[in-house]
Amino acid sequence: MYSLMRFTEATEKRRTFGIISHPDAGKTTMTEKLLLFGGAIQTAGAVKNNKIKKSATSDFMEIEKQRGISVATSVMAFAYNGKQINILDTPGHKDFAEDTFRTLTAVDSVILVIDCANGVEAQTARLMEVCRMRKTPVIIFINKMDRDGKEAFDLLDELEDKLDIKVRPLTWPIGMGDRFQGVYNIYQKGLNLFAANKTKISEEVVSISNLADPTLDQIIGENPANELREEIDTVEGVYDPFDRNSYLAGDVAPVFFGSAVNNFGVKELLDTFCEISPSPQGRESDTRMVEPEDDRFSGFVFKIHANLDPKHRDRIAFLRIVSGRFERNKFYHHVRLNKDMKFPNPTSFMAQDKSVIDDAYPGDVIGLYDTGSFKIGDTLTTGEKMLFKGIPSFSPEIFQELENLDPLKSKQLEKGIRQLIDEGVAQLFIQQPGNRKIVGTVGQLQFEVINYRLIHEYGANCRFVPRNYFKACWITSTSAEQLANFKRAKSNYLALDKDENLVFLAETPFLLQMAEQDYPELTFHQTSAFKLETE
Ligand code: G4P
Repeated sequence: MYSLMRFTEATEKRRTFGIISHPDAGKTTMTEKLLLFGGAIQTAGAVKNNKIKKSATSDFMEIEKQRGISVATSVMAFAYNGKQINILDTPGHKDFAEDTFRTLTAVDSVILVIDCANGVEAQTARLMEVCRMRKTPVIIFINKMDRDGKEAFDLLDELEDKLDIKVRPLTWPIGMGDRFQGVYNIYQKGLNLFAANKTKISEEVVSISNLADPTLDQIIGENPANELREEIDTVEGVYDPFDRNSYLAGDVAPVFFGSAVNNFGVKELLDTFCEISPSPQGRESDTRMVEPEDDRFSGFVFKIHANLDPKHRDRIAFLRIVSGRFERNKFYHHVRLNKDMKFPNPTSFMAQDKSVIDDAYPGDVIGLYDTGSFKIGDTLTTGEKMLFKGIPSFSPEIFQELENLDPLKSKQLEKGIRQLIDEGVAQLFIQQPGNRKIVGTVGQLQFEVINYRLIHEYGANCRFVPRNYFKACWITSTSAEQLANFKRAKSNYLALDKDENLVFLAETPFLLQMAEQDYPELTFHQTSAFKLETE
């Protein structure tokens, strides 16, 4: 019998987070090590092998294999230290940044992996912007300490500077590269000695209750010991003591050092994560704030995954549960369609396996088989008419017009492009006259994926013609007159997005600036989250 206590307990032990990084910093390796600790996989290499196996199953996924990236975002669940952990994986490739942004709406916290030699890279900065916008708590892991990189203090300064967040080291490295001896755990006052080891998952910790202890000199040598003492002194002088509330508010990011590939520093990270990271958080809907304790089920779709087998057109919608308990075979309300639906085969994701589940709790992500009912951002409830908000679209970077090459196939093309847009593969802007379809993406790779899928899955015959736009800006206005003037003057550069919002397609930064100057009552937003910004 389902009881309130069981529900609260189940909710509180869930930890749903995403790992983000610039490609190659070590996200996949870190994910794999966390799964090893959680016992969800047995051997190193399983995550990567899984990627390759998947890509061998269809031609479409050949694109992924060839480029060595993960197109799909997946979910991995495991139990550790009494917590039920859900890792939401995100594609590292920059062309799929939009996918990552959306996944970040479904997590409660984030682990950011940084390469100690490269520091803050372009992709890291962009992803962190999204975290800051949502005030997502972040833990930073500085990886690859077994290689020579930047000095620890310089890295911390760089993080604060470029990511606009305060940091607080919780471990401290002893040397780096060839001289890397391990990390000192500032809080537990333990010395964790480094031994390159790619398979073992235990870590031996020497307890050093006082840094003045001469054992330290015996273990790591006199000079490194003195250096460590000085550095820890500086750390304590420069950084405020760690405060969990500041972390939870997204103001301060605790920092760990280690080497993911060598399983080093990962356990400290995971243990601390379990201790400090937030349990499932509520989400804002258009009518009210929905808290996880609310026993009426609600959730939202943040990702739609096309079936890789073109013979079976069904898709999987990834739903994040916000409140209440989800039950298999029970009717829930699809708010946008105003329709009740039940789900006989909801799935959970346990590392490499998908399995049917009977129920799920706030913080969980479940897969719902879908034959075209879902769009990104859709809300399911127990009957209540409300929509979760805050799954933003960002201005695309590359624009191309979709041209139909075979008038007899226009139906297929129309259906195909609509479905791909529902999946969030790209954004579509419709321009009049002529119903012209301008497709916008973050990277070139999506056009290849879309073209391939339109031809192979939908039988369309089409091509893309580059259009020279710089940004798509959503428009809000405080003067109907100015808006009408703007529409008249710029009709060639206006379009409607998928929700029929008005969008200005600016050709250059200069033309955007001119528009801002000439029409001061209009605001040009580069993300569709402007509704959130202005509320
Ligand atoms: P990503 O998902 O962020 O793109 O990065 P991924 O984990 O695939 O790691 C990128 C490369 O960095 C991999 O090497 C990986 O082995 C290496 N790496 C990860 N953590 C560490 C670390 O702590 N120290 C060192 N020295 N290297 C690390 P690769 O050559 O691209 O792949 P592989 O053949 O080693 O698997």
